[in-house]
Amino acid sequence: MVEVAVIGAGMTKFGERWDASLRDLCTEAGVSALEDANVAGEQIDALFVGSMSAGRFIGQEHVGALVADYVGLGGDLHIPATRVEAACASGGLAFRQAVAAVASGMSDIVIAAGVEKMTDVGDATDVLAGAADREWESFAGATFPGLYAMIACDYMNKYGLTREELAQVAVKNHYHGARNPYAHFQNEITQSTVMNSTMVASPLRLFDCSPVSDGAAAVVVCSLEKAREFTDTPITVLASAQAGDTIALHDRPDFSTMGATVAAGRKAFAQAKIEHKDVDFVEVHDCFTIAELCAIEDLGFVPKGTAGKFTAEGETQIGGKLPVNTSGGLKACGHPVGATGIKQVWEVVQQLRGEAGRRQVDGAEIGMTQNVGGTGATVVSHIFRRAC
Ligand code: COA
Repeated sequence: MVEVAVIGAGMTKFGERWDASLRDLCTEAGVSALEDANVAGEQIDALFVGSMSAGRFIGQEHVGALVADYVGLGGDLHIPATRVEAACASGGLAFRQAVAAVASGMSDIVIAAGVEKMTDVGDATDVLAGAADREWESFAGATFPGLYAMIACDYMNKYGLTREELAQVAVKNHYHGARNPYAHFQNEITQSTVMNSTMVASPLRLFDCSPVSDGAAAVVVCSLEKAREFTDTPITVLASAQAGDTIALHDRPDFSTMGATVAAGRKAFAQAKIEHKDVDFVEVHDCFTIAELCAIEDLGFVPKGTAGKFTAEGETQIGGKLPVNTSGGLKACGHPVGATGIKQVWEVVQQLRGEAGRRQVDGAEIGMTQNVGGTGATVVSHIFRRAC
């Protein structure tokens, strides 16, 4: 297979973007990725765009063609554009399709984008619930905060995680988000902000939840061999892994372990031929605080049941043993669902280029991403290295 590298990345500010439509967001992120890569539209062979539910959020389908058109890749260029959907893992999966297109030799230079415009509808919770098992979960009233609350209860009962330890995930992610000018929330918070916030689904409070956000992100990939024509700092894709699981949470043997994360993580480490100690930072899918703890355990960075203590001791903050979600994660950077997986890659690119400013991880050489659809029915994971 052809070795693949990321040569450009761009994103919009995430948040309540009343000032911008879905096509505006895509245009901003796409053009900024193309400029960053020093690539002209005519050089692009294919576009993959992750979007979970533009049809229900804004009544717009055929998102691949729309994005290609407005990014300047439609019309006379006739560039093939494909929408990719895997709930909140749509962006990560769009990136994986772009990597596969280049790795197989089918395409030379490919753009992977992700977008969601969520704040225009009043029933975002119900739209999101479509990513669970509609017949057996959502129709019975289980929303995503409710499902992740069940995971949190199970985890707390099994491993004795304290409410205070769980809160530290949000405190740390707001600390990182306050150092990311593109983040939805750029304010630091304290443990008491989390503990005293409104109860959403016990034990999860408002500050345990990722917000409903608008935003887009885009990255450009090509062969590692070609990458040097465009940039001095290509970021090599060492591994691209995907795994699946049951759509419904209640069909899993263990709520607190996301089997697809375990499987995708194992595949990713085997492909990359590296060990956990080689990874300098990770961007994981903290749609709710409990999900971040499960993610770093299920990827194998810390033993099961210990991520709360590890977090409370400051080891997942910049400067700690394993910085997690330096972008601010979904909690503080925001979670425009289709865009999140691409934003994770964007953050890895900033870190590995040494361009992450006040949230830079010193000497970062290898970064990893983990992007989840639903409660873990789809997980996509990538590992990246700064090319020498
Ligand atoms: N964290 C911190 N503050 C938040 C927040 C969050 N997750 N969500 C909203 N807020 C703030 C808003 O900024 C607003 O503040 P302001 O009054 O100072 O302007 C206030 O809370 C009310 O905002 P609103 O949009 O009315 O909140 P809401 O009650 O409608 O929604 C949640 C809150 C938690 C229910 C919603 O963000 C949610 O559903 N999150 C989970 C999304 C999800 O499931 N994603 C998929 C995961 S798999």
